[in-house]
Amino acid sequence: MANFWNNLPQPFYILAPMEAVTDVIFRHVVAKAGAPDIWYSEFTNATGWVHAGEKAIGGRLIRTEDENPIVAQIWGGEPGDMEQLAAHCKELGFHGIDINMGCPAKSAIKSGGSALIRKPEVAVAAIAAAKTAGLPVSVKTRLGYTHVDEWHDWLTTLLQQDIVNLTIHLRTKKEMSKVPAHFELIDDIVALRDKIAPDTLLTINGDIESRAHGEELVRKHPGVNGVMIGRGIFHDPFCFVAKEDNEKAELLNLLLLHLDLFDQWQPHTNRPFETLKRFFKIYVRDFDGAKELRDILMHCKNTNEVREALRPHL
Ligand SMILES: Cc1cc2nc3c(=O)[nH]c(=O)nc-3n(C[C@H](O)[C@H](O)[C@H](O)COP(=O)(O)O)c2cc1C
Repeated sequence: MANFWNNLPQPFYILAPMEAVTDVIFRHVVAKAGAPDIWYSEFTNATGWVHAGEKAIGGRLIRTEDENPIVAQIWGGEPGDMEQLAAHCKELGFHGIDINMGCPAKSAIKSGGSALIRKPEVAVAAIAAAKTAGLPVSVKTRLGYTHVDEWHDWLTTLLQQDIVNLTIHLRTKKEMSKVPAHFELIDDIVALRDKIAPDTLLTINGDIESRAHGEELVRKHPGVNGVMIGRGIFHDPFCFVAKEDNEKAELLNLLLLHLDLFDQWQPHTNRPFETLKRFFKIYVRDFDGAKELRDILMHCKNTNEVREALRPHL
């Protein structure tokens, strides 16, 4: 397949990779509600996969042919392992590789994620290693590790690596998600990209709620190419389509679809029923009796009990 990054609308929209959320099941629910232009997998650890294979990554790299284009997001601190996982992702049919250099979780920063902001030589080697698979390589990162003003040097290093797309979550690792995203830096980052790597696409991420919000930001900050939305999908599963109000029936039908897909993929993903509960509030909201229904659903023990509880509302 040709490099899909060359054939995208401007701006393009991406559903952010979210661990234990944006798996093959939830991505298909979002596809039904209104698809973004690009899909990303959950992040997948290269060293875990190299040493323990499939069981270390628990279905994170499952994809279907209709998910197109789809990027595999990988992470780690061992470029040799990333080279191997990138090659595997190519065999699985992914259309691109993204390297996570922004995850702040303690378990990730022992070796990779945002730890790479402090180990630029490993970051550079990881990009080169991932490129050997022959797929386009992108990076998703934050402004810096501790201080916002780290962004200039860190993004300069990344932009010098000839990557196809740089997604910048507009916060530092230290800021986690506790402060508002630094939209005020977007123009400076665009200028840096224009100077160092005019061919690298720039995607902004952090606190962007919807397509309309993304469009407004891109209008204010010309030069931005893409918009990545993460938690906005929790507030509105239709956030990638321009839409006024969501109907109760539409939301509950998405939940029914989610239940069916959960059952269908269960033999492959092995995710316990309890993991479904975090999704209920996405669909059961903004109508009379929503809270009471949510309480009932939280006590269900399997997907059939959920279907039964929904029946009077359909
Ligand atoms: C539950 C959850 C899981 C996440 N998992 C990942 C991940 O696997 N890879 C990644 O790059 N970022 C991950 N993130 C970060 C998001 O991709 C995104 O950068 C962040 O939520 C900010 O964007 P938002 O304000 O649109 O949500 C995760 C975020 C959340 C809330």
